Amino acid sequence: MVVFTFAPTFSAWKTKARLALQQELSPQDVFWKEESSIDTFPDLFLGEESSEKQPAASAKTFRVPREFLTLGDVVACHRDPSRWDLLYRLVWRINHGEPHLLDHTPDPDVHDLLLKERAVSRDVHKMRAFIRFREVATDDGMWHVAWFEPQHHIVARNAPFFVERFASIKWSILTPDACAHWDRKELRISPGTTRDQAPAADAAEELWKTYYRAFFNPARLKPSMMRKEMSPYYWNNLPEAMLIPTLLAEAAGRTATMVAASQAKRTPELVESTPIRLPTKGDWPALKEAAESCRACPLWKNATCTVFGEGPLHARVLVVGEQPGDQEDLAGRPFVGPAGQLFDRALQTAGVPRDHLYVTNAVKHFKWTPQGKRRLHQKPTSREIAACRPWLTAEIDHVKPKLLVCLGSTAVHSVVGNGIKVTQDRGQTLPTEFGIPALIPVHPSSLLRQPDRSREAADFAAFVADLAKIQDFLSK
Ligand code: URA
Repeated sequence: MVVFTFAPTFSAWKTKARLALQQELSPQDVFWKEESSIDTFPDLFLGEESSEKQPAASAKTFRVPREFLTLGDVVACHRDPSRWDLLYRLVWRINHGEPHLLDHTPDPDVHDLLLKERAVSRDVHKMRAFIRFREVATDDGMWHVAWFEPQHHIVARNAPFFVERFASIKWSILTPDACAHWDRKELRISPGTTRDQAPAADAAEELWKTYYRAFFNPARLKPSMMRKEMSPYYWNNLPEAMLIPTLLAEAAGRTATMVAASQAKRTPELVESTPIRLPTKGDWPALKEAAESCRACPLWKNATCTVFGEGPLHARVLVVGEQPGDQEDLAGRPFVGPAGQLFDRALQTAGVPRDHLYVTNAVKHFKWTPQGKRRLHQKPTSREIAACRPWLTAEIDHVKPKLLVCLGSTAVHSVVGNGIKVTQDRGQTLPTEFGIPALIPVHPSSLLRQPDRSREAADFAAFVADLAKIQDFLSK
């Protein structure tokens, strides 16, 4: 057994792992010993160990996929001491006959890696969401201090985010593992501390509770999701948490009032994206659950929920719309609002039962902007369409339909590709990369927007004629 002692950084570990590989030390022959337990500092703070011997120029080189480096950098922050063994086992296997190991997600080591990556990423996100600063008067002026208890070693990893976000104030984030301090010039990381070092409530807290009470959105209330997203683990340090029971009790009554009163202009929010990790193929419940917490683009922030597709899981026809609208966002189901009702009528006239179709959208969150009392639909951008595409692809892969029906240009963009004009190709069936033809009718909301009343009947008839083509595929 060879003991490798290293500062707990991914970079320091990589250097040692390279040495271990060069000595052909199998995972059972290596013991990973952390030098310090302060926190897993990124190189920004510690740097490489100076005593490290560099491999000779002629030494054998090792390859790992870029994805391993990205995941490893995150997983290195996990609290489980066995993470270093796991990383070495993976790198060993990748270099001993399994170069595509990371593509095999059911493999127990890969599965463990992905679970750990997810746990750390969630913790990073929670810290960003649940940090609450309290003002403290010091000789050095006003200082903002927060206490937080991360589940993993994420303080140093997350600190640059807070520097960017709160560049103009002096702050400290205290945690049991490590503390981060920003004096408006320099970021410092110091060892962890205890809760009693953090200040108690201040006047700003009352202000924050008032603010929280005001923006708490009862229409989005899903207590189980709330507990999942804002686990009671974090409640201790949240001044607003004590308001939650009362707000939950009042939620139903406030929903109606809020919908009528939501006129407030939104401030631009932090744009954050986390790559989608699809669960094992075929695991439909896991797929839906994963989509519920998708953060691949910022649209989730203003939406009530992810509106996933619905319908028979082996439907012969899969319909793709653009994105949920206002009513779909509240109901959590696609095509239930005005466009959906028109779609239902047209399907009925065309003799196509909706319950034979799997219906979904290219983008799963409602994108909107406030206008008076209304939430006005906004067209998703190409980036948002692309960010959401893995979910649509997974739905198509699972349902394996014989026909895709693209309602509107966003759906066409996602399924067939860019550059197709619905006005030119409507009623046509085009090839797709899925090997499944795509029928291109118009979007039902284009009929709702038609200003020329005299054309309503003809437009509806043309839409019905397009949808009638679905029948052939239902019986094929
Ligand atoms: N429009 C869409 O494209 N999809 C819906 O779910 C509702 C309206």
